[in-house]
Amino acid sequence: MAILQTAVCLLFLFIVNCKSQASFYTRGINVEALCEECDTTTGSGYVYHPKYCHLFVHCTIGQDKRVVGQVKECTRGLLWSQKVKQCVWPEESDCPTNPCFNQSLTLRDLRTCNGYFTCTDALRLQFNCCDRNERFSEVDGRCYKDYACNDACLPNSSNSTAKLQPCDRFEHPDNKGKYLWSISGTNITMDCAVGTAFSAEMCSCTDNADFVNIAFCDPYIYFPFDINIKDKMGKTASGGLNSWIRTSEPAAVGNGAVYFDGKRQVIAWAMNNMEFKSNFTLSFRFKADLVGPAGEERYALVDNSDCAKEATFGVALLKTSPKTGTIHGGFRLKNGEAVTASSDELSLTSWHSVVLIKNGHKAELRVDNNIYPIMGYGLQSDIDRVDCSMTIGKGTGLENFVGYIDEVKFYKCVPDEFKN
Ligand SMILES: *[C@@H]1O[C@H](CO)[C@@H](O)[C@H](O)[C@H]1NC(C)=O
Ligand SMILES: *[C@@H]1O[C@H](CO)[C@@H](O)[C@H](O)[C@H]1NC(C)=O
Ligand SMILES: *[C@@H]1O[C@H](CO)[C@@H](O)[C@H](O)[C@H]1NC(C)=O
Ligand SMILES: *[C@@H]1O[C@H](CO)[C@@H](O)[C@H](O)[C@H]1NC(C)=O
Ligand SMILES: *[C@@H]1O[C@H](CO)[C@@H](O)[C@H](O)[C@H]1NC(C)=O
Repeated sequence: MAILQTAVCLLFLFIVNCKSQASFYTRGINVEALCEECDTTTGSGYVYHPKYCHLFVHCTIGQDKRVVGQVKECTRGLLWSQKVKQCVWPEESDCPTNPCFNQSLTLRDLRTCNGYFTCTDALRLQFNCCDRNERFSEVDGRCYKDYACNDACLPNSSNSTAKLQPCDRFEHPDNKGKYLWSISGTNITMDCAVGTAFSAEMCSCTDNADFVNIAFCDPYIYFPFDINIKDKMGKTASGGLNSWIRTSEPAAVGNGAVYFDGKRQVIAWAMNNMEFKSNFTLSFRFKADLVGPAGEERYALVDNSDCAKEATFGVALLKTSPKTGTIHGGFRLKNGEAVTASSDELSLTSWHSVVLIKNGHKAELRVDNNIYPIMGYGLQSDIDRVDCSMTIGKGTGLENFVGYIDEVKFYKCVPDEFKN
């Protein structure tokens, strides 16, 4: 049991040796030399990326005590700030190549071939996309015809360049799924889109609002992994490093599952900095394909740690013998507590289903037909928020997963089937 507890804590407690990410980020840049500037006395440090303000270098002490640099990305149009050592709104960033300080600069959005950021009013970064079948060239900041580039234009990820307008929308007195819109001096009642609720703070219907009034608990994000790595619910753009579907796995649901070969990952960008509140369900199936003796390696399954910050939810696999392992899952809460549970030992040669649930003050990990309650102090506290996306197959401080993952579903609520 002692071993299990350590493994559980490590899922949330920090960055050890991280493997290098996509090599195109680092092209032409000596990351290790940059890390010499880094203060790594606490085990890890951060430094500017010399070319792009939306990238930064995370320096960690490697196994052999050498400093290892890894290039990471601020998403959603945010830029790196060396002063506060995190991604901030462009107007707050002290980055020397901040395009908001030099309006002739444009930044490529590394998530797609056609997205880019500009800053026209010296205040906010603006997200743009080239037309269909055009590629953005960072050499001269223009779009060029390229039929190989057909990425979808990601949802507008920057914090609008428009000046703030006074809010002309108000809370509906008794229905969070509606709002009052003041038009020419008259309040008319409007409906929020299904699955959203009105937030006076945002002056719009948002998915970050109180979900208690939702009638049906449908998945917010669903990766069936049958023909591609897209979200069937259409809520998130997804990406990943060389992620592809393997269709030959007989026990996959539908036509396939993603095979992770130790270098792959699938990312759900929409979950970056998401407010989870206190109702959360994550479910998926997996089958490991690990070879070699057990060294008590911890493998990432699904979490939100892959951006140099601690995960606020996660499920990991601890290999306990060549053919067995245990599952660990939990949350980091707004009250500062990390709460986790561990499964019994299970065979790594077959498929398993995993569900991680938080339903108000009750949290649990389910593996196959077994329920493992998650214990801890202050469980009624909400799940903490972090500027990281959900990543499948890869996580900070964990080995990259090797094996199949299928049917990944994330809900901002708890479906009835998991309520008792
Ligand atoms: C703005 O960027 C351009 C292109 O990189 C450069 O030539 C120019 O000197 C920069 N201007 C300032 C004020 O930094
Ligand atoms: C993003 O929002 C800005 C300001 O509202 C708009 O001008 C721009 O066209 C939007 N970009 C995309 C890709 O939707
Ligand atoms: C927009 O940016 C400001 C800071 O400049 C921040 O306080 C605010 O929360 C942001 N709005 C959204 C919708 O993210
Ligand atoms: C519209 O509703 C808001 C909020 O209830 C209220 O403050 C405002 O006075 C109303 N406006 C009109 C014209 O009734
Ligand atoms: C969310 O959690 C609360 C407890 O905090 C519970 O009362 C409510 O039923 C949950 N809502 C959903 C949609 O699961």
